[in-house]
Amino acid sequence: PIERSLVLVKPDAVRRGLLGEIISRFEQKGLAIEAMELRSMDASLADQHYADHVEKAFYPPLKEFMTSGPLVALVLGGDQVIEVVRAMIGATDGRKAAAGTIRGDLSLSNRENLVHASDSPESAARELALWFPKL
Ligand code: CMP
Repeated sequence: PIERSLVLVKPDAVRRGLLGEIISRFEQKGLAIEAMELRSMDASLADQHYADHVEKAFYPPLKEFMTSGPLVALVLGGDQVIEVVRAMIGATDGRKAAAGTIRGDLSLSNRENLVHASDSPESAARELALWFPKL
């Protein structure tokens, strides 16, 4: 089915000059860019976006990182895009992510892992409403 996924190209990617590289991979795959904005996450948006993680030990440094600078928020569309993008970004920990994935090729961190993408149709619906309520 044609789906939409909410993707965040995180502040580490912006700082490292990897926006072009990362967005290029999504373009080359054939996914549609339905929205794309340079945004920033404030504390309140972080708590809402990561509602499932706010109680976890890794959350305070994650929040610090995600609010540390601009990020690019994207809406990607395509056939089974949620699963396709998750496969393209690889495992959470860049040290363990498979070569050929964005994190596997470009990240050495479990936190500064360059990209977030919706992990299910339910999280995509929630995250799209949060980031792009008018879409
Ligand atoms: P993301 O896909 O944005 O979803 C939650 C984020 O929390 C994850 O990517 C990482 O940036 C971060 N994260 C998840 N697990 C850990 C962990 N064990 N230690 C540090 N950061 C983590």
